Amino acid sequence: MNLLITGGCGFIGANLVRYQRQHYPEDRVVVLDALTYAGNLHNLDDFQADPGVKFVPGDILDGELVGSLLRDERIDAIAHLAAESHVDRSILGPMAFINTNVVGTATLLEAARAASIKRFLHVSTDEVYGSLEPHDPAFTEQTPLAPRSPYAASKAASDHLVLSYVHTYGFPALVTRCSNNYGPFQFPEKLIPLMILKALAGEPLPVYGDGRQVRDWIHVQDHCAGLSAVLRKGRLGEVYNLGGRAERANIDIVHAVLRLLGKPATLIRHVTDRPGHDRRYAIECQKAEAELGWRPQHNLEDGLRDTVEWYRQNELWWQRILSGEYRTWVERNYGERLARPDGELAPRKGLDSCA
Ligand code: NAD
Ligand code: DAU
Repeated sequence: MNLLITGGCGFIGANLVRYQRQHYPEDRVVVLDALTYAGNLHNLDDFQADPGVKFVPGDILDGELVGSLLRDERIDAIAHLAAESHVDRSILGPMAFINTNVVGTATLLEAARAASIKRFLHVSTDEVYGSLEPHDPAFTEQTPLAPRSPYAASKAASDHLVLSYVHTYGFPALVTRCSNNYGPFQFPEKLIPLMILKALAGEPLPVYGDGRQVRDWIHVQDHCAGLSAVLRKGRLGEVYNLGGRAERANIDIVHAVLRLLGKPATLIRHVTDRPGHDRRYAIECQKAEAELGWRPQHNLEDGLRDTVEWYRQNELWWQRILSGEYRTWVERNYGERLARPDGELAPRKGLDSCA
């Protein structure tokens, strides 16, 4: 199989490239990524000499480029992960989310339909279902969509588009909706890596509001195993929830990180809450378990310990992000090829633009 992974230089995409190469070395992987602030070519350093992985710099909004890529690389299947993914950024500036997540997905769908792609995996999120009260049952695939942030709304719009293609054109798509991921290569704007790096630096840890918001955590390797199972064995046209069965309040996660690093709880600062902050997410993933034989393997406490250790061992990786060096390198090597008509690269400001 020739598999195109969009967003393969991001957190989950880069982990999916790894999963693919480990479990399906006979398949070829082509990565299409616009290298926004969240895309980091260092995430694929291990594959520089691997003939089974090809990196193509480019934007999913560029229909001509995507069309010729699908044709020239003889792509059989697509795992679509390219997206703007950070809720706080979507509150500061929704348009990038609408462009990439909605128009970008539509552009990719059109190219994939014209190229008669055999399987199209659309990677979505539990946030499309909205927010739960403490005693509500977990989200199932039947839960109506009720997104509440510009990010979640843009993902819900893309889910609707994908499923409309299934219905209207018999397009061979599958949709996954997963809960909060953690693990290696996560950009340090997201809760867990941000808290690890702040704690390592002895800086205050910003906890939004009372910190009692609940997320359902899944190790990124379990998510990638689920994506692969859905891509290969899922029924076309179906939606599959994926989750870690590990609901925790944010404040408990933050305390756990501090304990693992031997840092004091006095570093915690309760700060102004995120506008419209969703209170609780929880995913029922029984359908994927029953149909695909997939099951999350990591327990959160062990996974968190390994993740803290990964950030300790990979200081060069995150120092390049904190210093902005990873962007300088991208602009020097790919600047012109990735420039949009306005001359700008895709959103490129790093941590500073959101802090
Ligand atoms: P990320 O922000 O780490 O990576 C996104 C990648 O997409 C980056 O490499 C970026 O350069 C690329 N990209 C962005 N815009 C692009 C464009 N226009 N053209 C081509 N490439 C572009 O995101 P992530 O956390 O790895 O999430 C990947 C996918 O999984 C997203 O669709 C997200 O909605 C979904 N998801 C994430 C989580 C999570 O907890 N992180 C959970 C469920 C679903
Ligand atoms: O649920 C899946 C979603 O999980 C994905 O679709 C998104 O792409 C991904 O970013 C994530 O969204 P969240 O908003 O849940 O993740 P984030 O890491 O930004 O925040 C997790 C929780 O921690 C949330 O309740 C907000 C809180 N938080 C976050 C940050 C960055 C803080 O309290 N302080 C912080 O500094």
